[in-house]
Amino acid sequence: MAEHDAEVEGSHHADAKSAEVATWLEAVRSADDPAALQDLRVRLLGKKGEITQRLKALGGMAPDERRLVGEQWNRVKAALGAALDERKGELERRALAAQLAGERVDVTLPGTRPPQGGLHILTLVTNKLLEVFQNLGYEVVTGPELETDHYNFAALNFPPDHPARDTQDTFWTTDGRLLRTHTSPMQVRYMETHEPPFKVVVPGKVFRNEAQDATHEAQFHQLEALVVGERVTMADLRGAINEMAQALIGPGTRTRLQPTYFPFVEPGAEFAIWWTNPRSGREEWLELGGSGMVHPKVFEAVGYEGVTGFAFGFGIERLALVPYAIPDIRYMYQGDLRVLEQFRGVL
Ligand code: PHE
Repeated sequence: MAEHDAEVEGSHHADAKSAEVATWLEAVRSADDPAALQDLRVRLLGKKGEITQRLKALGGMAPDERRLVGEQWNRVKAALGAALDERKGELERRALAAQLAGERVDVTLPGTRPPQGGLHILTLVTNKLLEVFQNLGYEVVTGPELETDHYNFAALNFPPDHPARDTQDTFWTTDGRLLRTHTSPMQVRYMETHEPPFKVVVPGKVFRNEAQDATHEAQFHQLEALVVGERVTMADLRGAINEMAQALIGPGTRTRLQPTYFPFVEPGAEFAIWWTNPRSGREEWLELGGSGMVHPKVFEAVGYEGVTGFAFGFGIERLALVPYAIPDIRYMYQGDLRVLEQFRGVL
């Protein structure tokens, strides 16, 4: 640029012209955005621009003067063109730098952690239970939630009008089927299709038409165990329940069997586990479920002879209260993250 300026300044009509040219060059160099620069280009070099007009005026001059002045204006034109191009390049580099600075990512900043999911407390406890029983040699099987009266009641020795049915009120479909009230129907289904000896556990959803409170839900989960063989005894039943309690809750966990009535076992017993009730802070028995020796009528219904067996079944939600001191069974179904997150990664 300095070279062009020097030539322009050293020319004919030097003062007025060089001042004018200097103003133009200054305007080009200080143009602040591409649109303003483009306007300048048009104003100076465009069809009706300053330089074009000056060059047109050459026509009225004497040949000598025309050559001299024409040369000068052509040099000015070249200088302005170069200045415009240079400024254009500067503005483009500046815009790019600004864009890159705006898009810069600081890779050392901590990231945003996506919310982490986890298994529900019930799934955790069920998985743990199944693992305990599989280690004891049990097979895991599952069955339908929509059952027939036959499997849920009749084959389990509940006669049609027996009052024991009242303890398991449930929801019926219009075609006479029902939502199973316990996992015990799988005892019958399994025995119909398998030969003893065997040990099975059945996890699954069950339903009761009942008022909900801190320890009762209309829908819950049970785990059923059934062991049949030649000399299976009540001592084996007690052993299995104890093994489960120790494995899930800890060594030394106390369990209790108390005589009670279920039509499909004889003798029958309810079983409980010793815990500290988090609602009262008191130690007491928590009733978990039923158990007993498989009733001869049930074996008869499936055509078994010469074997004995034990069965037990209990609410998984109930059992899950114990190791975590959960005060209310309804917490398990409320989907409250403050509750659920406490069980992420436990067990
Ligand atoms: N099915 C019974 C109930 O839900 C529990 C039970 C299972 C009792 C196995 C005896 C044997 O109440």
